[in-house]
Amino acid sequence: MERRAGRGRSTGITSTAGLWLVLAIALPSCGGADPEASEEPASAPAMHGAWSPDDLALLRRLTPLPPVPADPTNRVADDDGAAHYGRWLFFDARLSGNGEVSCATCHDPAHGFADPRALALGAGLGERHAPTLLNAAHQRWLGWGGRADSLWMQALGPLENPVEMAGSREAIARLVREDPELAAAHLEVFGALPADDTALFVEVGKALAAYERLLVRGDSRFDRFAAALLGQAGGDPEALDGEEQEGLRLFLGRGRCTLCHLGPTLSDLEFHNNALPPHPEGSRDDPGRYRGGQLVKESPFNAAGPHSDATDGAAARRVGALVISSETFGEFRTPGLRNLKGREPFGHQGQFEDLAAVLAFYNTLEGQDLRSHHQEQLLRPLGLAPGELAALEAFLLALEGTPLAPGLMAPPGSPRP
Ligand code: HEC
Ligand code: HEC
Repeated sequence: MERRAGRGRSTGITSTAGLWLVLAIALPSCGGADPEASEEPASAPAMHGAWSPDDLALLRRLTPLPPVPADPTNRVADDDGAAHYGRWLFFDARLSGNGEVSCATCHDPAHGFADPRALALGAGLGERHAPTLLNAAHQRWLGWGGRADSLWMQALGPLENPVEMAGSREAIARLVREDPELAAAHLEVFGALPADDTALFVEVGKALAAYERLLVRGDSRFDRFAAALLGQAGGDPEALDGEEQEGLRLFLGRGRCTLCHLGPTLSDLEFHNNALPPHPEGSRDDPGRYRGGQLVKESPFNAAGPHSDATDGAAARRVGALVISSETFGEFRTPGLRNLKGREPFGHQGQFEDLAAVLAFYNTLEGQDLRSHHQEQLLRPLGLAPGELAALEAFLLALEGTPLAPGLMAPPGSPRP
């Protein structure tokens, strides 16, 4: 069960020693912990300037991307046969009501498993943008409003959603039972073809989730640069050029990005109300986390429900402890920032056509839709200069991980493992 997960590196004694080594070298020339004090021109040589202890402490929380966390609610989460069958299902439009929409219609492998359209278009026009599936297995809550607590629960949503795939569990169960290849694959992976439509439908979701757990891309140039700064194995002090290093400093410092984009996917896995200007065709009243929290708590498909394979695990306790508060109205989950290239547009309604537009928003907060409830108190206009915005963008584009194996980008020849 070797998996293409992010590379786990030791953060034990050696790296701590490495950190102290960097600090010992860095501090005398640093003149304080203020990141603004150590700005350098974009043409400076690699590893120029000193990194403050605060910068290094933040860096250690951003890298490396560890292997995806276990999902005990799905007994086939790490089963190779299930991932193979799930990869077939991901591209199979027969699961939809009209036979024309597959998961890949909106989560296009050629666009970072995201959608080049702003608002999702399946059987009908959706209200949100289809986000990337790369590194989604690292998230705790799925969907912009966190309406699912596992990948398999999330997968069951679009299959029956009238504006997404508009299928039904009955039709999907019939398809799997009647198609000899699908029936054989299902039997091989799960050991039986359940007579109950809902049980079979849930297993389809669990196979899809096993595939999605392989859609992981870490080990970017940023990680190699950070490893060098932190004295970890595999580091390369020249992995980022001068401009990208300036962007990293801004990301950690004056940009305030790590207030929310913190953690190895560059997301805190939590929800915030940035009050983004709505897309012209989008709603101004999306309840975001408020509704997402209700949906996950009420669903029979959550981690504590009868279809979960670990009803007493951490995920089940998390959904049990979830408090639905109107304070969360209009909040959306912090997206991870790895692998941004080619997955524009950005934002929960795809309201930003590219990275420059996202950064222009953070820089001025112009167009913020403040009437929507408890907007984020942490955001304030950054007032960065054009060169600084370009540096920040250059840094964000250095977060591209190792490409996926080409085989993962297309369906297998047969659903049978
Ligand atoms: C019609 C377009 C469409 C189709 C088809 C579709 N999705 Fe999505 N997907 C979306 C949208 C829109 C969202 C955001 C939903 C939300 O915010 O609740 C999403 C969110 C997700 C997420 C959450 C990612 C994250 O980071 O939170 C996963 C996982 C996912 N979809 C998997 C699938 C799978 C598996 C299928 C096929 C069974 C599928 N999707 C089919 C549009 C689509
Ligand atoms: C207060 C928390 C917070 C701060 C601070 C913050 N972000 Fe975000 N970021 C979010 C949330 C939440 C979203 C999704 C918002 C939405 O769609 O409604 C987001 C969206 C994004 C996106 C779009 C990603 C996508 O997949 O759509 C990018 C890029 C981004 N942020 C980069 C940054 C950068 C760079 C900074 C620092 C200049 C920053 N963010 C500061 C919380 C934050």
